[in-house]
Amino acid sequence: MNNDMDSFRIVITGGSSGIGEATAFEMAKSGHRFYLTGRNEVRLQKIVAELHSLGCDAYYGVGDISDETSARLMFDEIKQKLGGVDVLFANAGVGHFGNLEDLTLEQYDEQFDTNVRGVFMWINMVLPLMKEQNSGQIIVTSSNLGLKTSARCSLYAATKHAVQAMVWCLREELKGTGVKAATINPGSVDTPWFDGKDVDRSKMLSSADVAATIRLIIDQNETSDIDHILLTPGRK
Ligand SMILES: NC(=O)c1ccc[n+]([C@@H]2O[C@H](COP(=O)([O-])OP(=O)(O)OC[C@H]3O[C@@H](n4cnc5c(N)ncnc54)[C@H](OP(=O)(O)O)[C@@H]3O)[C@@H](O)[C@H]2O)c1
Repeated sequence: MNNDMDSFRIVITGGSSGIGEATAFEMAKSGHRFYLTGRNEVRLQKIVAELHSLGCDAYYGVGDISDETSARLMFDEIKQKLGGVDVLFANAGVGHFGNLEDLTLEQYDEQFDTNVRGVFMWINMVLPLMKEQNSGQIIVTSSNLGLKTSARCSLYAATKHAVQAMVWCLREELKGTGVKAATINPGSVDTPWFDGKDVDRSKMLSSADVAATIRLIIDQNETSDIDHILLTPGRK
C-alpha cells in the first residue's frame, strides 16, 4: 500500500506486547489509526494512551484471540470506530517447546487455537471488507519455523507451517484484486516471549527490527507485492 494522502486503519492482534506493540509505535511515527487486541487490558490501556499522546487515534479490544464471540464484537467495534480496515497484522501467538513426547494436548490446543484458528478467524472476518474496498494489506506473523523445521519445535513449527500455507493459498485467491497478503518470518526476537526463560537474548533480533520490516510491507508501492520476509539476526 502506498497512499501518502491517507492515514491507514491498522488492526494489530497481539498488540499488547513485543512485536505487535513495537509495530504500533513504529507506524505511529507516520500517524495512522489503530485498533489493538490482546488479553492484558492494563498493557493495552497503557499503549493506547501512549499512542494518543503521539497524536494517533487508537482503540483496543480485550479477549482471547480464538474466541469467536469476542472477535466478532471487536470487529463490530472496529467498523464502528475506524469505519474499515486497511492493514490487518495477525500477530498474536504462543509457543510451547520440547520433545514431542513431552508436549501435551492442552499445549497442542492452545497453540493451534491461538496461532492458526485466531489467524484464520481474523482474516476470514476482515477479507470481505478489504475485497469490497479493493485494497488492503494482510500480514501474518509466521516464523523462520514456518519455512523450516527444528528439534523441540514440532507443534509450534506445525502451527507456523499451517499459517504459511494459509497465506500462500490466499495469495493465489487474491490475484486480480487490490488486496495483498504476506508473512513475516523472524528468527528469535528479544520480546517478553522469553521472559523467565533461561536463554541468551544478546544475539536475538529486536522487536524494532521486525517492526521496521512490517513497515516495509505496509509502505510498499502499489506495483510491489511482498510475499514473505525472512529475518535473521545480524549478530552471529
Ligand atoms: N519472539 C520470537 O522469537 C518470535 C520469533 C518468530 C515469531 N514470533 C511470533 O511473533 C508473534 C508475537 O510474539 P512476541 O515475540 O511479540 O511475543 P509476546 O511479547 O509474548 O506477544 C504475544 C502477543 O500475543 C498475544 N496473545 C497470545 N496469546 C493470546 C490469546 N490466546 N488471545 C489473545 N492474544 C494472545 C499476547 O497478548 P496478551 O498477553 O495480552 O494476551 C501478546 O500481545 C507470535 O505470533 C510469535 O509466534 C516470535
